[in-house]
Amino acid sequence: MQRNFSTELITCPVAMGRFSERMRGQGKTIALVPTMGCLHEGHLSLVRAAKQKADVVVVSIFVNPLQFGENEDLAAYPRPFARDLQLCQELGVDVVFHPDARALYPGEVPTRVEGGPTAKVYCGQTRPIHFGGVLTAVSILFHVTKPQFAFFGEKDFQQLFLVRQMCRDLHFSVEICGMPIVREAGGLAMSSRNVYLSPDRRAIATVLYRAIGAAQQMVRNGERSAAKVLNEVHSLVQSAPEMALDYAELVDVNTLARVDQLLGPSRLLLAAFFGDSPRIRLIDNGAV
Ligand code: PAJ
Repeated sequence: MQRNFSTELITCPVAMGRFSERMRGQGKTIALVPTMGCLHEGHLSLVRAAKQKADVVVVSIFVNPLQFGENEDLAAYPRPFARDLQLCQELGVDVVFHPDARALYPGEVPTRVEGGPTAKVYCGQTRPIHFGGVLTAVSILFHVTKPQFAFFGEKDFQQLFLVRQMCRDLHFSVEICGMPIVREAGGLAMSSRNVYLSPDRRAIATVLYRAIGAAQQMVRNGERSAAKVLNEVHSLVQSAPEMALDYAELVDVNTLARVDQLLGPSRLLLAAFFGDSPRIRLIDNGAV
């Protein structure tokens, strides 16, 4: 079927703001899907959900320098922009907002949004500036694109928690919609960084998904000790060649605090390093 749809590409934040004001003036609702591009089915699931929810869908594609540490992959981060634009076009996205870093951050950006103590644990322990960079970028994107709804994946569970916390604390009037993790056939969570992994390595990396499955099975069988479940997760991941666990934690879904006993709704959060050069960091999580 031939679709006659044209996605508008906007690179200037002022033009983006004017577009959103015009849409709101016409009584239309706007949903934002913030991304760093190299779009995959995980991103596309957010776009489809956004289309169900709002009249106008804006996808932002911005590789945010503020959220990368000094030794991280900012320069190498994949940027297949023409392909991304094509995918957005095929899905009927109204606007792709693709500013360059100088447009969004004309200077040094001394003003930052930090996430407090929860931004410094789990992924924030290994990546101390990461969530401050994410929240600063997301708050700017909210101000510029003025959405009523914004879509985020549970793949980045801590990020989703911190964005919700920011919206509550800073009184953003944006409804945050969290969407389930989309996985490859073998169970590996889809990620733009999976392009760094060969097919063999992708198969090995499914150990994270298998570890989540093992934890879920233990809890179904009545295990309530977080320490025992985490022990099993550690030994499974450590047994996979070339993989080293960064952290594994069981947390309360409502507070993201560590739990010792699995008595209420909890989440297993995982991060692991794969290989040496380059050293690739993978994250995953699941309800237990
Ligand atoms: P990025 O990694 O491109 O992810 C964009 C959105 O897609 C995030 O909300 C992420 O959780 C979601 N996502 C990624 N992989 C997914 C999967 N397998 N299943 C479901 N959702 C998935 O997250 C970022 O970009 C950035 O930190 C950003 C929020 C854009 C701020 O710069």
